[in-house]
Amino acid sequence: MHVLVVGGGGREHAIVWALSKSPKVDKIFCAPGNGGISALAECIPLKATDLEGITAWCDSHPIDFVVVAPDDPLALGLVDALEEKHIPAFGPRKNAAIIEASKVFSKGLMEQYHIPTAAYRAFTDMEGALAYIHEQGAPIVVKADGLALGKGVVVAQTEDEAVSAVREMMGDKKFGASGSRVVIEECMTGPEVTVLAFADGTHIVPMPSSQDHKQAYDGGKGPNTGGMGAICPSPRYTPELAVRCMEEIFLPTMRALQAEGRPFSGVLYFGLMLTANGPKVIEYNARFGDPECQAVLSLLETDLMDIFLACQSGTLNQLDIKWSNRAACCLVLASGGYPGSYQTGYPISGLEEAGETATVFHAGTKQAGDEILTAGGRVLGVTATGDTLDTAIDGAYAAAKHIHFTDMHFRHDIGRI
Ligand code: AMP
Ligand code: GLY
Repeated sequence: MHVLVVGGGGREHAIVWALSKSPKVDKIFCAPGNGGISALAECIPLKATDLEGITAWCDSHPIDFVVVAPDDPLALGLVDALEEKHIPAFGPRKNAAIIEASKVFSKGLMEQYHIPTAAYRAFTDMEGALAYIHEQGAPIVVKADGLALGKGVVVAQTEDEAVSAVREMMGDKKFGASGSRVVIEECMTGPEVTVLAFADGTHIVPMPSSQDHKQAYDGGKGPNTGGMGAICPSPRYTPELAVRCMEEIFLPTMRALQAEGRPFSGVLYFGLMLTANGPKVIEYNARFGDPECQAVLSLLETDLMDIFLACQSGTLNQLDIKWSNRAACCLVLASGGYPGSYQTGYPISGLEEAGETATVFHAGTKQAGDEILTAGGRVLGVTATGDTLDTAIDGAYAAAKHIHFTDMHFRHDIGRI
């Protein structure tokens, strides 16, 4: 098969890496790809959001299957556009991807179908939002309705902070149209766990649990990022919790989407908080998380292409998906300054040495002659597996010691917090 993977970050490198092991896959293309992906796939210089460019390219090349990995093209309807051209694709259609693309939609769905989540109100007018904040008091959480690169959420410790967040989103249009509606919700407390699940429209099969580390600095301090590292599985996600989440959250979500005429096929991401009153949904995503994907796929033993085909054809129940019982840790090496402004174009050294004991997934890199240069905020995801979580974490840190680039920044406590 000839497969196109849409996207160009660490998650897409992990997907391409897993697909490259499939005997079914003869050739992989990636749009736009990155410096690491180019070793396994032919990179096509098309932006992931260029729906017309991608569908036209697929039309004129012998592509058998497309994997749409990032949120933006899913929300824009790339899977629908490919289906119109009779090109099978992995990922939800636009009407199901809305579960991530609109928090007003996802909160409404959870309310209607009694799926546990934080209490909330949605607002289209700023005055109403501000009044509600003063009525509820702090701490309180303010969320832009639409996609905002994972930065549209403010967990406000004071009313003033919440008021500023609303003014920035609704008044100053910090996130453009994404902030024209806001969700204001109860601040929950407890450890966070991610569960990614394969879905085929009807059936849902959870992957091993994982944990992201969203804040930029050690101790969970600093601004939110796309994710600074991930472990798999999460020691906090017990078998009892898994049963409870399946009954109270995963299956009800699948059924709710079906009942709404929005069957979900692809990867459904459950961001969960383990509160004193049980597990609750913080957010849904309509895709693999990044960097959770890099850690989770490192433990997959079944052919990923078989899984993608089963999700796309509605036959996931016929597949027995196997996972290693080891553990994995993905440590993100970022550019100094990220998630704020940062410089790019620095040469990266030590990749080969690190690659001897870990898998180094590239995120923001580009190939320039013989060199690999930094080209983004999150640069690399050094991913190691081990018999235990401790050995996986130690393995990722030991491998990362070989890697250098100017102003390299990473957290020292991935999996330890
Ligand atoms: P999200 O983009 O919705 O995952 O939110 C980013 C982060 O904000 C989450 O990983 C949580 O740490 C935090 N967060 C979001 N919603 C809440 C909430 N209702 N209560 C407490 N923390 C939250
Ligand atoms: N790591 C969180 C996300 O991909 O949204």
